[in-house]
Amino acid sequence: MIPITKPSLDISDLRYIKNVIKSKILTDGFYQKKTEELIKNLIKSKFVSLTQSCTAALEISAILINLKKGDEVIMPSYGFVSVANSVVLRNAKPVFAEIDPKTLNISYEDIKRKITKKTRAIYAIHYAGNSCEIEKIAKLAKRRRIYLIEDAAHSFLAKYKNKFLGTIGDIGVFSFHETKNLVGGQAGCISINNLSLAERTNTILDKGTDRKKFINNFKKKIISSQKKGFYSWVDIGSEYRASELTSALLYSQIKKVKKIQKRRERIWKKYRKNIGKFKTDNFYLIKPIKNCVSAYHLLVIIFKSLKKSNEFKDMMQKNGIAATFHYVPLHKSKMGKKFCNYKLPITEKIYNRVVRLPLFSDITNKEFQKILYTFKKFMVD
Ligand SMILES: Cc1ncc(COP(=O)(O)O)c(C=O)c1O
Repeated sequence: MIPITKPSLDISDLRYIKNVIKSKILTDGFYQKKTEELIKNLIKSKFVSLTQSCTAALEISAILINLKKGDEVIMPSYGFVSVANSVVLRNAKPVFAEIDPKTLNISYEDIKRKITKKTRAIYAIHYAGNSCEIEKIAKLAKRRRIYLIEDAAHSFLAKYKNKFLGTIGDIGVFSFHETKNLVGGQAGCISINNLSLAERTNTILDKGTDRKKFINNFKKKIISSQKKGFYSWVDIGSEYRASELTSALLYSQIKKVKKIQKRRERIWKKYRKNIGKFKTDNFYLIKPIKNCVSAYHLLVIIFKSLKKSNEFKDMMQKNGIAATFHYVPLHKSKMGKKFCNYKLPITEKIYNRVVRLPLFSDITNKEFQKILYTFKKFMVD
């Protein structure tokens, strides 16, 4: 089976992992610091911390903006469960917004309609590696004094008007999960643009303690008899930091990021060129909006009919090609229904016609030709 995604890993990734094992330092070590610095410089962020996942980074963001009971938070229903959970875990209420059918990104117009006096934040996802209408949304959030959190789980190194996604709103979060362009095993990162929020971040990441103050020389201090003080509990928090093994793997991936991204771009563009040839209105391809440089995370097509999309998925799978569905809209889920008694007609019409095709940097020409051949066969039959 040609999988939908495959991490871009090879033997060279072992190098830094071996160094960690040799060092016997498995937390708060050299690679955690180095990788945070690399990411900070790469995306021109003011503050970066590695986390155990993007889910963790989302939970940190909800603590940082002090979400509480009675607050409303706007997010796309066509999105990932961790966004909704981070809000609900703080006892705030998710308010689900529509998507733009051309991009599957949150609809700016629907955000405007859904803002109330209780709206405290907008969580905007940059789906598939492509920017949502971030400039307009950021202006709106600023005007209405609402926090803007960018979920750039799919969009590390993507840009809008030369600014990296995840660095435009107050906070940005990223994923380096096995399924993402770069992998750290299970890993993520939080980038903070609004520096007034940064102060508490280290504490929240360190189980609510001021441990970071002691960390530069932490291992020595704990055995030192000088007793210059110890860390203690000062805020709420959890164990959110990425481990040293994770950080080392991510470090290795970032060293190769140009190559990985170039390959993804080439494959995505090859799909576009070949798929674009089909003069049919049976389906359309999700593309980046103007002024966006994509991270080329997903190859997504939308079929006009549910019947066609199901037939297509079946046929691809029978031929050994993963062609899969994506998100169940949050407002249609068992949990989501508890917060939603309204309809989202665009999302409801579109979600089960979404089909993803294999996209990963090591896809071979033979694999790509097989996908294309099978795709063409379906379209002309
Ligand atoms: C939009 C979005 N946000 C957040 C996440 C969570 O990422 P992680 O698996 O790193 O927690 C995902 C996972 O795929 C996602 O698609």
